[in-house]
Amino acid sequence: MSTQVDIKNELETLRQTAESELDSANSVQAVDDIRVKFLGRKGQINDIKRNLKDVSNEERPAIGALANEVSDALQHQIEMKLESLKHAEINAKIQSETLDVTMPGVFHRQGVLHPLTMMTEELSDMFRSMGFDVIDDNFCPEVETDYYNFDALNFPPNHPARDMQDTFYTDVDSHVLLRSQTSNSQIRYMEKNPLPVRVISPGRVYRNEDVSSKKNVLFHQLEGLLVDEDVTVSDLKGILQEFIKRLFGEERPTRFRTSYFPFTEPSMEMDVLYKRTVNGQVKEEWLEIMGCGMVDPNVLENCGIDAEKYTGFAFGMGIERLAMLKYNIHNIRDFYQNDLRFLNDFKG
Ligand code: DAH
Repeated sequence: MSTQVDIKNELETLRQTAESELDSANSVQAVDDIRVKFLGRKGQINDIKRNLKDVSNEERPAIGALANEVSDALQHQIEMKLESLKHAEINAKIQSETLDVTMPGVFHRQGVLHPLTMMTEELSDMFRSMGFDVIDDNFCPEVETDYYNFDALNFPPNHPARDMQDTFYTDVDSHVLLRSQTSNSQIRYMEKNPLPVRVISPGRVYRNEDVSSKKNVLFHQLEGLLVDEDVTVSDLKGILQEFIKRLFGEERPTRFRTSYFPFTEPSMEMDVLYKRTVNGQVKEEWLEIMGCGMVDPNVLENCGIDAEKYTGFAFGMGIERLAMLKYNIHNIRDFYQNDLRFLNDFKG
């Protein structure tokens, strides 16, 4: 039979034991064990509380309050201890993980954009700054039908112009091919968008040609299209001359030669006077930069546009060709071989 004094003593001993155990505990786990041992459901405080029934009715409230006080105090101490253990842990981490700034760093090889990507982005920026939008890639598939690659662009059926571009046909269907020019984007865009149109469309094209230092079966073009009321040849020349100025960083003499493309009338080829140093001597020569012309009325009509009211111009250039000029590259195959010695030349 426990008395009030016994229980008080027991509580006092428990408090001291718990405190000293807590003092020497040095891990979260050890503290948790102490919590279970003293405060848990089957812990010592509860054992003592169970004995309260033996205490007289008058004494019970006071001794019960004392038991609660010991239990609350212990709970509080446990929390403090956990807090300080966490701090100690963090401090230990800080101590052990100091940064030695004199240690040599880990070398990370830095990549560079592919020269064709750089060239495409540069060209796109130039045209953007002249008010052109860049057509989203999804608009203009590389696996295309002959309707968008030829028919809608005013290539008559069986016309030799189709042979100008040695096209890869697929075996999916006799009408499905790999696009031979980015001009398909003209039709795709005009079909779906309101006028006026002022866009460029860079992308990949394919031609079944013998590979050489100048030609590859896969290459890249950038197409441009502007359609509005009262667009004239002088608008075409003005825009393209401004483009040349931005491309070369200075005014360059240009000339327009008559040419033929089924989707433009008149059709032209634009040349730029180019300075090249050969054996220490500066040589000037005309270089063909792109094809261009006024959009043929048939092409506009194929897209449901009133050719009486609207006119436009289009142009198309080879991105590899421009990159070869700009970066002084002599073999088109260099672009596709992923040779790091070549690619690393474009760093910085
Ligand atoms: N699509 C032509 C080609 O691949 C290039 C071209 C010429 C595009 C004249 C045009 C243009 O938009 O007006 O040879």
